[in-house]
Amino acid sequence: MVSHELIDTANALVADDKGLLAMDESNPTCNKRFARLGIPQTEEARRAYRELIVTTPGLGECISGAILYDETIRQQTKDGTPFVRVLIDAGIIPGIKVDTGAKDMAAHPGEKITEGLDGLRERLAEYSQMGARFAKWRAVIAIDDQLPSRSCIAANAHALARYAALCQEVGLVPIVEPEVLMDGEHTLQRCREVTELVLHTVFGQLFAQRVTLEGMLLKPNMVLPGLACPEQASVDEVVDATVSCLLRTVPAAVPGIAFLSGGQSAELASARLNAMNVQFHSRAPWALAFSFARAIQQPALEIWQGKEPNVKAAQQALIHRAKCNRAARRGEYDV
Ligand code: 13P
Repeated sequence: MVSHELIDTANALVADDKGLLAMDESNPTCNKRFARLGIPQTEEARRAYRELIVTTPGLGECISGAILYDETIRQQTKDGTPFVRVLIDAGIIPGIKVDTGAKDMAAHPGEKITEGLDGLRERLAEYSQMGARFAKWRAVIAIDDQLPSRSCIAANAHALARYAALCQEVGLVPIVEPEVLMDGEHTLQRCREVTELVLHTVFGQLFAQRVTLEGMLLKPNMVLPGLACPEQASVDEVVDATVSCLLRTVPAAVPGIAFLSGGQSAELASARLNAMNVQFHSRAPWALAFSFARAIQQPALEIWQGKEPNVKAAQQALIHRAKCNRAARRGEYDV
């Protein structure tokens, strides 16, 4: 039996036109983004950057929940306040990434399987005690002429559903993230076919593992042509392909869909989310929300550059993107 609290948390995460801030980059991913900007790849730099994010004035007016990483959930501000406490005081629900990464899938060249089920029940109990109220697990699906294979989709969907059931057992809302990647030359149509198959498979597995749909959120990719596809798509084409794909695959019992940004520019991610809400806000059975990392953080990271005097300007850039995406949920985003 799933508690009312779980369902309340899932609804709270998509309430008031707010959305999620993903700040759960693993250390290797965070280091890669720092390295590109010449920022030292140290624990202290990662801590200082996350302090910049969680102490951004007004963040709670646009952000309902923040997804942390294992290192980050244990960290504190310089004055010794745990990040979890700072978030809660700002009205932001703390969450945690709990998969242990996408690893090469045996006998499936070019494909990945996300790991982290071993010992997950115990880790979830610990995170819950530390104040997390929701969790995230990301599966990645690559597209090329031959990929994805049915077996890669099935294995990842199974793992997502097992993770989601374990989360609900301990009272954490699972964010189910099957990401069809933007890399490659594939067309919009191909992304749509693959995304449809992936979501059908994921919801079949969620049903099989007895996951309560009212107590979870979906975090999908938008349906987009590959970054190297010669034929790019208009905002309207993306919105049409994305929402029609979701209408065919995502049950109405799911309270919200919180998109990942996946490498889109911050402006395009907001513009597409905006158009979705302009066209479908009153017709879609679920909230059309956001759970962006790069599309909220990247401009701020580029301004910060690891330097204390840049903190204020970086925070202004961060809150600006957060506000843009809240406006996009209302269909009021203006580039
Ligand atoms: P992006 O918005 O940068 O794709 O990140 C979302 C995320 O949480 C990836 O798991």
